[in-house]
Amino acid sequence: MSKPQLLIDTDPGVDDALAIMMAHAHADIAALSVAAGNVGLDHTVRNARTLRELLGASFPVFPGCASPLVRAPEEDAAFVHGADGLGDVGFPEPKAAAEGEAAALALLRLTRERPGELTLVALAPLTNLALALKLDPALPRRVKRLVVMGGAVTGHGNTGRVPAEFNVGFDPEAAHVVFEAFPAFDLVDWEATLRHAFDDTEFEGWIASGDHRAKFFQKVFRTARDYNATHERNGVLAADALGMAVAIDPDIIVRSETRAVGVELDGRLTRGATVVDWARRLGRPAQARIVLEVDQLRFQAMVRKALGAA
Ligand code: BDR
Ligand code: CA
Repeated sequence: MSKPQLLIDTDPGVDDALAIMMAHAHADIAALSVAAGNVGLDHTVRNARTLRELLGASFPVFPGCASPLVRAPEEDAAFVHGADGLGDVGFPEPKAAAEGEAAALALLRLTRERPGELTLVALAPLTNLALALKLDPALPRRVKRLVVMGGAVTGHGNTGRVPAEFNVGFDPEAAHVVFEAFPAFDLVDWEATLRHAFDDTEFEGWIASGDHRAKFFQKVFRTARDYNATHERNGVLAADALGMAVAIDPDIIVRSETRAVGVELDGRLTRGATVVDWARRLGRPAQARIVLEVDQLRFQAMVRKALGAA
């Protein structure tokens, strides 16, 4: 079977880092397009270049939007990922530069060059994708699949806006544009992430038996691990890694529900919430396959291989 060809929109980010390692181990990476999100764009672009160097890879890195489409973000996620987005380890400046072409333009060009071939994997606020869609609404017809890590389908979010998940809450307008434009996509939400945590001790074992990628991840994961330990988050949570597992191999899905999903753009308490028409009351096309459960052992095997672990 030929390897999946991935276009990854990302804001690295500790769990983005693990997801990119998985993509490199199990698929072909056509490009990384980079957004601001977990931390500012200067950091996320540099982190993408750092990951490329770690992996000895040569895929292009395209810098994208430095801020959301409409409103300034209320919060970033530096308190989880570190001020530089990769655990404040202090990695040296990576050698190869980013591309000059803007991420949204690169997404359009690459999907024109390879129509129907590329799976778009969105691991960040959806700003770059929304901008690309506004420039060319035919984009969905040219991608093989879209997988979005984002949302919290029953309101158990992870931001200061209680029901909102970070990627959607950071740029709700962008998520709205993307959710309205794609007739079908896979949605891997924060609540699925909570159900697919790795056991701490098992994860330690993978790190101990892994190669240079495991050593790298051990370093960058420290701030996120400390945050989780003090905030009642059990086990090792890796939202983007779960999204990437679904992108690499959709057969990993064991339970899903397909429903219409919208994004709340206003709301005193709920801006950025993902609203699911669970009871199919609105008669709107059900565009989101909501991933509720994946095969945990296969997911773990994918992560272990990405870390070079036994
Ligand atoms: C998502 O938000 C970011 O902090 C993570 O990288 C992930 O993409 C989880 O809500
Ligand atoms: Ca991310």
